[in-house]
Amino acid sequence: MSIIYLNGDFMPDTEAMISPLDRGFIFGDGVYEVIPVYNGHLFRISEHLRRLDNSLQGVRIPQPYSHEHWTGIMHQLVERNQGRNQSLYIQITRGVAKRDHAFPAKITPTVFAMSTPLEPLADKIRTSGISAVTLADNRWENCHLKTIALLPNILLRQQALDAGGSEAILIRNGEVTEGSASNLFMAKDSCIMTPPKGPRLLPGITRDLIVELAHENKLSISETNFTPDELAAADEIWLTSSTKEILPVTQLDGVAVNDGLPGPLWRQMTTLFQSYKESYSEPVA
Ligand SMILES: Cc1ncc(COP(=O)(O)O)c(C=O)c1O
Repeated sequence: MSIIYLNGDFMPDTEAMISPLDRGFIFGDGVYEVIPVYNGHLFRISEHLRRLDNSLQGVRIPQPYSHEHWTGIMHQLVERNQGRNQSLYIQITRGVAKRDHAFPAKITPTVFAMSTPLEPLADKIRTSGISAVTLADNRWENCHLKTIALLPNILLRQQALDAGGSEAILIRNGEVTEGSASNLFMAKDSCIMTPPKGPRLLPGITRDLIVELAHENKLSISETNFTPDELAAADEIWLTSSTKEILPVTQLDGVAVNDGLPGPLWRQMTTLFQSYKESYSEPVA
């Protein structure tokens, strides 16, 4: 049992009720956000709330709360649930209405938030990495919006699992975009590369932090597109997200990436990321 937030109240998850006519349930009409909490601190909270604003604006759902109000709810959720490290999930839908594709005349968004424990990366991943499978990116043209309608991502992830991988790396128009639930980096000859932000990928908060850390530490990094062939010839491949941090990909389509082990740049960036996390404290609202 965990304590969740729903439309103004905190309650046990077992007591929460949402109408089956909610447009989130009927249409997948809503957006979400995932915020990691390390040692009780809401990590990069301003960046996450700005992205939430952007997703809401992109699908024309009004933002129900100010950033200050959101931050208060998040703090309460962290306190009411167990653990110093948590993953917070926010979901806002276009609310309850008679089923009709067109927006209802009056919108009362459904606002939901929950917390789950944030597990550290398994040792096996640190030592051996993960395998990934390249697949055609058949999602829509607004992948920069974090919408709850994730069926293409779900099917792609499952296709990757069925092929023996643990994540799908997506290809659109001959260029690599991102993972099914992660952003993508590759390194070649000591230069780190990641596709530029735009409608083809989610502007990952972890991605942006890695770009920032690379610049601050004078590592060579470029936000540039690359092809599946360039990816296949990479020295290192990483996948990044708020819940998995930086995952080294050591097998791509069943073939070893370089020597098949997590690389030195991944180790260096992971160290920088961990020390950033340890020194992080929330900005004062
Ligand atoms: C499609 C997609 N890309 C990238 C990411 C990584 O974003 P973040 O680092 O903000 O978690 C996610 C996270 O879930 C995602 O679903």
